[in-house]
Amino acid sequence: MGKVIQVSLPVDELPRYWYNILPDLPGKLPEPLNEDGRIERLKDILVPECIRQESLSERWVRIPEEVRELYLRAGRPRPLHRAIGLEKMLKTPARLYYKREDLSPTGSHKVNTALAQVYYAAEAGYSRVVTETGAGQWGTAVAYAASLMGLRSTIYWVREAYEWKAERRIFMRLYGAEVLASPSGKTEFGRKLLEKDSRHKGTLGIAISEAAEDALKNDDTVYPVGSVLNYVLMHQTIIGLEVIRQLEVLDEVPDIMIGCFGGGSNFGGFALPMIGKVLRGEVDKKIRFLAAQSEAAPNLVKGVYQYDFPDAAQILPRIKGYTLTHSFDMPSIWAEGLRYHMASPIISFLKNIGMVEAVAYSKDEKAIFEAAKMFIEAEGFLPAPESSYAIRAMIDEALKAKDAGEEKTIVANISGHGFLDLEAYNRVLNL
Ligand SMILES: Cc1ncc(COP(=O)(O)O)c(C=O)c1O
Repeated sequence: MGKVIQVSLPVDELPRYWYNILPDLPGKLPEPLNEDGRIERLKDILVPECIRQESLSERWVRIPEEVRELYLRAGRPRPLHRAIGLEKMLKTPARLYYKREDLSPTGSHKVNTALAQVYYAAEAGYSRVVTETGAGQWGTAVAYAASLMGLRSTIYWVREAYEWKAERRIFMRLYGAEVLASPSGKTEFGRKLLEKDSRHKGTLGIAISEAAEDALKNDDTVYPVGSVLNYVLMHQTIIGLEVIRQLEVLDEVPDIMIGCFGGGSNFGGFALPMIGKVLRGEVDKKIRFLAAQSEAAPNLVKGVYQYDFPDAAQILPRIKGYTLTHSFDMPSIWAEGLRYHMASPIISFLKNIGMVEAVAYSKDEKAIFEAAKMFIEAEGFLPAPESSYAIRAMIDEALKAKDAGEEKTIVANISGHGFLDLEAYNRVLNL
């Protein structure tokens, strides 16, 4: 047989467990700080089952049958493709593969945890969910999950992205969501900022603060979180568990696994199951795990490993991770989803012990959109601007392999599609 171009798993191979890396880590993950009762306050903000899942000691966590069914309805398992067009274009001896999280109903990997968190919220009797969103992908995922499970949803969306992404706004509203530009007039924190600047462009940290305040003030409301926290990464391991199975079918062990990186949810979900295998001594090859980020928010590359607040209003407890600090002013980029000041505690821990590497690309994003254009021409699929950072890094590594004449196996995660980001392509590539 010729090259295997695509591996699709049968539906009965959809994983039955999520992977929790905490028991496999070489050391204890630093815990959040309970300053001024902030940890107790979390029970009035976050989904109760998720708080429990934040510090589990078991390695394998059963996915509720109802959530598995939701995953099937969302089209899981998702295929892994061989990028033969890109290999040919680059004339590289490397074998390139990409995981298709762009095939999700709302356009990104974010549904993997949205479905789980909203399911647990409904189980606990909540009738409304609120959340923040940067790129809009997380907000759409929560709106979608809430719609399937009959909950109301409110999305606080960083104003800058809210304003140019009119079509994604419509998409969220089709699911019945209330969608607000953040800072908004709906929360005390938002009103304070608007008094100072009525056109405040917002940040993810501010939108998180608004969602947290809303959840605190409304008993029927809870706040699903889109990235950073341990349980979010755990729900996302559905990606990496499928990839491990798909690589087994291909008889491949990767040399490099690459994901784009904002707070760490797609990178973690994609890489942690394989990192776990390495930590347990089940892989006898040196695998590099590479996070691709922006110079606008290079938390892993330039941040300091220390305790910091995940939100601008300092409502949530301080956690330990690589951070640019919660008041850091991040310049605008088209890949809005990568613009976050802090990296997940788990990925930060792994970076600190040298198991995860990171690279940051220029804020002008030219190299990123050029990589995306090459991918579109060679493979035909339109990646989200965020995912194009992973594509850039894959291309760079494939070219290095070419220079060295090495047959590397490189696997990248395509975290989302760019059908609602065409304006960004138009502006950067001057189409
Ligand atoms: C398509 C896509 N990829 C990646 C990210 C970055 O987030 P994370 O690092 O949590 O995967 C986002 C965030 O909004 C996104 O929308």
